[in-house]
Amino acid sequence: MNTPATPWLDLDWATFDAWKVQPVRHRLQEHPLLRPGRVVEFGARHERAGRVRTHGNSATAGTPFNDAPSLHPNNKSAAQTLSDIEHAKAWMSLLNIQTDEVYRTLVDTVLDEVRPRIEATDPGMSYRGGWIFVTSPNTVTPFHIDKEHNFLVQVHGRKRIYVWDAHDQLAVSEAARDLFHATHSRELIHWSDELRARAHVFELEPGMGAYMPSTSPHMVENLDGASITASFTYYTRATRRNSLLHRIHQRLRELGMKPPAVGALPWLDAALLPMAGMLAKPPATAKLPATHDELPYAEHLWA
Ligand SMILES: [Fe+2]
Repeated sequence: MNTPATPWLDLDWATFDAWKVQPVRHRLQEHPLLRPGRVVEFGARHERAGRVRTHGNSATAGTPFNDAPSLHPNNKSAAQTLSDIEHAKAWMSLLNIQTDEVYRTLVDTVLDEVRPRIEATDPGMSYRGGWIFVTSPNTVTPFHIDKEHNFLVQVHGRKRIYVWDAHDQLAVSEAARDLFHATHSRELIHWSDELRARAHVFELEPGMGAYMPSTSPHMVENLDGASITASFTYYTRATRRNSLLHRIHQRLRELGMKPPAVGALPWLDAALLPMAGMLAKPPATAKLPATHDELPYAEHLWA
């Protein structure tokens, strides 16, 4: 029996490095909001709010992530898919669960608990979000990157997760990262089976998970059963700075230059940042203010 002192999510904080992939352990499979019945009920509600992303299980590791829903459509509703996920042949993500007042409490439960540990080395947590992934047997999440730092936790079933280092330029080029930060396009991200040999591989069961730094490439293979996975994400002062530098570099590329990787020349990064107002593109969604990434919770519906 867990006592109240047992953390929901834990890792080896002595070795925690915000930019390094690391295993985590957790007990979120015990959380009432992550029981399969509650997730089905929430999925139907969240779909009515327009916050469900789904594709069929014919998608592969190399399917362009942004286009998977249109290339491999799943035409069943969230309720139909989630209530019979064993046979639905589908991948379904409940997006930005922090926008739901009930599920925001789950995001707070997890991130409030780890926040002091994170802030000790990686201050300025913002743009907090949560995601729930429900997947049929033998389903793949295509190779991609995301902007947020991410705690991925396995709640039900098993999964194999491949994660590459956040700065691995053979897995994802610097040009692809620059374009992604500036426009949210993932069109320069290309899968190759040879990349598997360079990955951190996690064989996840309930109670296990992984910390993935911002823009760590990843790809997920469900094994022979259905699976529920949750993800808790955020930005920090360092990820906001990193993203801004990539957006500046993208502008330099458009002007015909070939900037070195973000972080390779700290003096150049420091010199470029004050020019961000002139050089960085505004956020890809015009409705968002330039400082939207400093908001406490994620406001957009990108996935
Ligand atoms: Fe992802």
